Amino acid sequence: MTETPDTPSDMPSETPSDSAPSELAAPVAAPKRPARKRGPSARRRRRSSALVLVFGLLATGVLWTMLAPTGNATQTADANEAVRQGRALYMQGCSTCHGLGGGGSTTGPSLVGVGAAAVDFQVSTGRMPLAAPAAQADRKPPIYSATQIDQLAAFVASLGGGPEVPKVDDKSLSDADLAHGGELYRANCAQCHNASGQGAPLTYGKFAPSLSESTPKQIVEAMRTGPESMPVFGDRQLSEEDAVAVAAFIKHMNETASPGGFSLGKYGPVPEGLLAMLVGIGGLLAVCLWIGARQKV
Ligand code: HEC
Ligand code: HEC
Repeated sequence: MTETPDTPSDMPSETPSDSAPSELAAPVAAPKRPARKRGPSARRRRRSSALVLVFGLLATGVLWTMLAPTGNATQTADANEAVRQGRALYMQGCSTCHGLGGGGSTTGPSLVGVGAAAVDFQVSTGRMPLAAPAAQADRKPPIYSATQIDQLAAFVASLGGGPEVPKVDDKSLSDADLAHGGELYRANCAQCHNASGQGAPLTYGKFAPSLSESTPKQIVEAMRTGPESMPVFGDRQLSEEDAVAVAAFIKHMNETASPGGFSLGKYGPVPEGLLAMLVGIGGLLAVCLWIGARQKV
């Protein structure tokens, strides 16, 4: 610390004993005073340098947020990360059938160019990974999480091109023209999926499935990618708006309660007619027979 007052032990030996108390008091008091004086100033200095440091850090932070290049760098880093994770998932769950590089094998078609939308559709409806070879992949509860599906889609999209995952939000659905969607549905989809979306059999053990569990996103994806024997409805055939209108119509059909009581599976006139024949005419016949049996001839 300081050199001047550091001789209290020497002082008594040099000075006479009578003056010792005052002499002692002085050197003892002396180191205290400068220390007291220096204390606050050093603390102040330390405090001010801490303030300068804090201001410096804040300014750096503010300048960084203002001047740093926005978005792109982190986005590509995220995308690369998603592709990397997706490749790992793909190698584990899909490569046995679709090939190590996605080029296909004897047990699965090539995925080069099918696009993120096809992966999102196939995996989010649980069709993929295919459990066993069959005429057609069935809808199942999905085994991958939403994040993992995005990663798989990012990886397959990185193999080359294809439709992107469509963005279908609640607002575009509620703004959609339901009547127009219904017309498009009856013209393009009803011949396979039935007028009320209940599905119907096709040839060779294939079938157009029920649409009652399909989400609007999956509906647009199915149109854009054409799974299995379903045709592709590209954006030249059905514009973005048309596709969302069809999805909104199907959602509306799925959510509308049956106003006439029992819907009979919404299969339309056949079960309804059958019920009318059996219960209606059958009941009338029963009444006739009952009247006939009571009559005494
Ligand atoms: C057991 C074999 C098998 C496994 C495992 C498998 N697939 Fe498939 N995948 C198929 C077959 C067969 C088809 C074609 C028939 C169909 O679409 O139902 C197909 C079709 C697809 C399609 C549609 C291609 C197109 O042209 O639209 C996508 C996308 C797909 N698979 C992705 C995946 C992903 C992602 C995984 C891993 C999570 C996976 N598959 C696992 C056999 C398999
Ligand atoms: C030629 C018959 C045919 C036509 C026309 C057709 N589809 Fe399909 N659709 C299919 C078949 C077959 C599948 C099952 C594909 C599979 O399992 O891989 C399917 C599957 C679907 C699915 C997936 C259902 C699920 O499991 O969630 C949706 C959604 C769908 N179609 C919507 C449509 C819409 C919307 C239209 C009209 C724009 C349409 N389809 C026209 C045959 C058809």
